[in-house]
Amino acid sequence: MTHQFPGKPLRALARNTVRSPLRLTALLMACTAILPAAAPGGPMDSAARGMPAPLRDSDFLHDGAPPDLLVALGRDLFFDPVLSGNRNISCGTCHDPRHGTSDGLALGIGEGGEGAGAERRTREGVTGRIPRNAQALWNIGAREYRTMFHDGRLETDPEAVFESGFWSPAREDLPAGLESLLAAQAMFPVLSHSEMAGQKGENPVATAVAEDRLSDAWSLLAARLSGIDGYAERFIAAFDDIDDPADITFVHAARALAAFQTVAFRSDDSPFDRYLSGDAGALTPQQQIGMELFFGDAGCVTCHSGALLSDHGFHAIAVPQIGPGKGHGEDTGYWRAAGFMTRLEDEGRFRVTFDPDDLFAFRTPTLRNVALTGPWGHDGAFARLEDAVRHHLDSVASLNAYRLAQDTLPPIETVIEATGEASSLIFRPLNPARRAAFDLRDRWVHEEPELRNRIAAANDLQRRALNDADVDTLLAFLDGLTDPSAIDRSALVPARVPSGLPPQPEPVATH
Ligand code: HEC
Ligand code: HEC
Repeated sequence: MTHQFPGKPLRALARNTVRSPLRLTALLMACTAILPAAAPGGPMDSAARGMPAPLRDSDFLHDGAPPDLLVALGRDLFFDPVLSGNRNISCGTCHDPRHGTSDGLALGIGEGGEGAGAERRTREGVTGRIPRNAQALWNIGAREYRTMFHDGRLETDPEAVFESGFWSPAREDLPAGLESLLAAQAMFPVLSHSEMAGQKGENPVATAVAEDRLSDAWSLLAARLSGIDGYAERFIAAFDDIDDPADITFVHAARALAAFQTVAFRSDDSPFDRYLSGDAGALTPQQQIGMELFFGDAGCVTCHSGALLSDHGFHAIAVPQIGPGKGHGEDTGYWRAAGFMTRLEDEGRFRVTFDPDDLFAFRTPTLRNVALTGPWGHDGAFARLEDAVRHHLDSVASLNAYRLAQDTLPPIETVIEATGEASSLIFRPLNPARRAAFDLRDRWVHEEPELRNRIAAANDLQRRALNDADVDTLLAFLDGLTDPSAIDRSALVPARVPSGLPPQPEPVATH
């Protein structure tokens, strides 16, 4: 029995008491001033153009100012590999403040990899690529988010069918006490074998996940944290309901992670923000023409609306599919051709709702700081921002013309594969004779006409007649969405973390 996920209105999030405000400035220990909320209304008739109001503190969780202790704790957790089963990857490895809070890769290399960004390799061996582009986290603490992930599979449920108050893949296993969608999200990366948990048999967390004992996996991680003095003290100080290290749960960790992300990745001081706040000269004349197009004839605002330039809706726009996909679809062609029992499509929102209108639909991404978050598309198919924009002019033609360039995906050197089942499951290096067949999965969906045609048939983006000059002005406008303080927030990475493990990514030298 599949639960339907109707688009339900966002349930008002419980308001949190603001104890003491902490500014990003303090976190960065640099002079990055945050623009105070200014008078609403831009110099133009903004409402008529579908232009958003400037972002305010109250648009964010904790009214933009979560308690300092919670933020500081979340910061350490975010960059500490201790949250991964094999203690070898942190949230920050994939959401790197040097790479626009993503990893700079089309499809990343998760657990078992080594290094950061374009240098990341597969030294210890991986079972495959991460199937989707690591989402950038700019303004992820905004209350307007109703769903998380490219397919929105984690969703606020106003009817609270499950105790947690969220629809999610963990269903009834997701515990209560997660005070926001963002906190709920933080429960998931640690359960993913390829992202953070590792493979069955390698560590107790991964084994618990593989045996569908999700609560045990979270408890094991919480116990790890309780056993580290530096963490125990900080949890006790940050939470009223923790008096003893044994009281720490992963829900607490998730709440701290959410508090940190809310402050650290807030980014609303772009030229566009200054323009919205009444500074007509903040955008160049070319950017203003691009803005007129964006909110006018080019129709971008139909989907990229609101303060984050996302309607948080799901649309199929025929982005080419590359990489191993999510194991969706009914195609058995790859299995027959390559001998691997796996399906390679990523049907997007459809796999959450089972509504045919949602086939190959993905959540409209926010465009804030979009110039910093490449490669673009849910699978990073576009290496250049211009290609992502041009794709929108005639999406089906762009899909059919797409060729996967050799250097789009990072090399995968060492692959391990599962053999056996259940208790006898073990991971062994991939048989070299099967390597070419393995590599075929990066191109299979795109190169099979039947599969590509399914993506084209689902497209609901209309063609747009825009010339090269129009595209240039749109790109100029997108540049105007870059907050200068977002270009390099590497100072967010702490020099050391309580576990004593080296933080990931590597901290910048301080002095
Ligand atoms: C191996 C890389 C990797 C690691 C490690 C990782 N993430 Fe992610 N993150 C991703 C990818 C890929 C997605 C998109 C997944 C999808 O749509 O299925 C994502 C999505 C998210 C989102 C949803 C954003 C949105 O707009 O909906 C948040 C929030 C997030 N990650 C936070 C975290 C936190 C917190 C951690 C650590 C506990 C973490 N991530 C660890 C790769 C990673
Ligand atoms: C029908 C809704 C819709 C319209 C209209 C639309 N977009 Fe998009 N856009 C999307 C969706 C959905 C995605 C993500 C698709 C995916 O990854 O599969 C996207 C992706 C993007 C991206 C890549 C962002 C990233 O982080 O990967 C850019 C840039 C972009 N759109 C710009 C524009 C511009 C400029 C216009 C106007 C010319 C426009 N969009 C019109 C829905 C839309």
